Amino acid sequence: MPARPRLSRARRVADAADVADLRLLARRRAPRMVFDYVDGAAEGERSMARAVEAFDRVEFSPRVLRDVAAAPTAVEILGRRIAMPLVLGPTGFTRMMHREGERAVARAAERAGVPYTLSTMGTTTAAGVAAAAPGGWNWFQLYVVRDRARTLETLSLAREAGMDVLVVTVDVPVAGARLRDVRHGLTVPPALRWRSVLQAVRHPAWWFDFLTSEPLRFATVNGAPDDLAGITNLMFDPSVTVADLEWIRSAWLGRLLVKGVQRVDDAKELAAVGVDGVVVSNHGGRQLDRAPTPLELLPHVVAAVGDRTEVFLDGGVRSGADVAAAVALGARACFVGRAYLYGLMAGGELGVRRVLDLLHAELVRTLQLMGVGGVAELTSDMVRIRER
Ligand SMILES: Cc1cc2nc3c(=O)[nH]c(=O)nc-3n(C[C@H](O)[C@H](O)[C@H](O)COP(=O)(O)O)c2cc1C
Repeated sequence: MPARPRLSRARRVADAADVADLRLLARRRAPRMVFDYVDGAAEGERSMARAVEAFDRVEFSPRVLRDVAAAPTAVEILGRRIAMPLVLGPTGFTRMMHREGERAVARAAERAGVPYTLSTMGTTTAAGVAAAAPGGWNWFQLYVVRDRARTLETLSLAREAGMDVLVVTVDVPVAGARLRDVRHGLTVPPALRWRSVLQAVRHPAWWFDFLTSEPLRFATVNGAPDDLAGITNLMFDPSVTVADLEWIRSAWLGRLLVKGVQRVDDAKELAAVGVDGVVVSNHGGRQLDRAPTPLELLPHVVAAVGDRTEVFLDGGVRSGADVAAAVALGARACFVGRAYLYGLMAGGELGVRRVLDLLHAELVRTLQLMGVGGVAELTSDMVRIRER
């Protein structure tokens, strides 16, 4: 019998037909506790499941006999043109997923012509990201920490690195309960304990990379992290209010987005204080379980504030068709988290590139099959969210 050909990792990544394939590759490559840190969500994981399921219920209403020879995907957000309505959202501890971490993600975003958002909980500095992707549109995500002087210092480092869009995340007054991490006893950085030694045997390439690359630590926040929830609760300020946002507004000269908006009245309050945009998001289901489902809430927020501020969405976006649905319902662009992290875990920068290529190709094909000659022609009457 002929031997089964051994496929290189790069080949497997290139052969992935969709984000779900990359997720499976990621599960094979990364130790289970690392994969689960990305793949998991809070408590019963209902918020995450519902976000994905809402996209499953989307039904398109396509036009026929339209000229769809070209289906341009470029859009303008916050006064600048990007290649497609997609933003790589902030994710903490990205070098745990792959040694190339934030740099790889920023480079892939630069190549694809979409923004990348560095997290306050990142493992690469703002200057490091700027050096890796000098031609990219690099944004910074802020968590307000108890030490306000430190917050100001963080902002000036981001600004010095050329970042001109600040995304303030407001759905983490305290850490959500990510039960997969609790069950694995996940520490940050992962410790080699008896449980992880067993995993090391199954995932030698990941552990080799982990043990031979620059030690994992937060680049922006201080402290010797152990469990993520512990450090979050120690450092983050649960007393932040809209007044603090006005303080940030005065300290930050660039554009300001607020991420984690989950009610129409909160969106109205934020539009009234003059933020440049809101991100309808429940943190990918990693904070409050049973939170509103972003795709279902989106049209209500767009109707209430869409004429005054730019509305974005995240949560559950796994394909270009999902992006088309959200944009048709009024989102200026979608942020993605897990989709690109699966690519990163599966194959570093190549994996993230593959995700972005897939999302773009899927978006173009969806537009053409919908009889739409470009993202700008998407309208809400072309999408129905089925009851079940
Ligand atoms: C592993 C992981 C880490 C994250 N870290 C952050 C973070 O540091 N700051 C933040 O604002 N959002 C963070 N998020 C939330 C994402 O920015 C985004 O809201 C979420 O992933 C969207 O859902 P999706 O994964 O279904 O695309 C994180 C998400 C994941 C999966």
